[in-house]
Amino acid sequence: MLTFTRRGGRVGPHMRQVLTEVVPRYSLPAEPWDFAGAFPGLSEVVLEVGSGSGEATLAMAQAEPAIAIVAVEVHERGLGSLVRSVDEAGLRNVKVFSGDALVALRRYVPPATLAGIRVWFPDPWPKTRHHKRRLVRPDNVALMASRIRPGGTLHVATDVAQYADVIAEVLANAPDLAPDIVRGPRPPWRPKTKYEHAGLEAGRPAQDFVYRRI
Ligand SMILES: C[S@@+](CC[C@H](N)C(=O)[O-])C[C@H]1O[C@@H](n2cnc3c(N)ncnc32)[C@H](O)[C@@H]1O
Repeated sequence: MLTFTRRGGRVGPHMRQVLTEVVPRYSLPAEPWDFAGAFPGLSEVVLEVGSGSGEATLAMAQAEPAIAIVAVEVHERGLGSLVRSVDEAGLRNVKVFSGDALVALRRYVPPATLAGIRVWFPDPWPKTRHHKRRLVRPDNVALMASRIRPGGTLHVATDVAQYADVIAEVLANAPDLAPDIVRGPRPPWRPKTKYEHAGLEAGRPAQDFVYRRI
């Protein structure tokens, strides 16, 4: 069951050029990932699930140049915008993968290698019949935990109160994870995301959860 829907819409000529010429230079392949080769000199790799249009990804890459970031997103134009900014800024600590992050975690990320996984504002799928499409479910959390090395963190944020209740329960019951932050306000080191701005304007503050791999 997919946790996303693919967005349509026209891709303009400039973005088409970014997608065909620039994105491939920053993309990880569809095969097991060699982080040491992809990020020479950087030993901490954080994977972001669903980076959207990448504003927060760019901000954290600039704020933390010693941390390697892999942004995984199915929305191609979102990845294109991120890569265009990363290229313009000359950053060397960002790679991307265009596709389903759950597939990438299962197939391409070796177990216990990531310093962290960030799931910021996952699609809430509010209708009951769609709940099974949510990213934060016991099976997906077990997969994510298995890819984080001991001491590394899983950071989830949402502005949807009902989803926050579910996230709280799923994370509290994850056997390999211990809580650092439960339902906290945005920690200062997490940049505000594009999606979060809309929630704040509508009076929905974010709730952050940070759990550490045991
Ligand atoms: C609500 S948006 C939030 C985007 C961004 N994190 C932000 O806060 O602005 C959720 C994003 O997750 C992406 N997404 C959902 N499931 C995904 C998956 N399995 N793999 C990769 N991306 C996914 C969607 O395409 C969408 O762009």
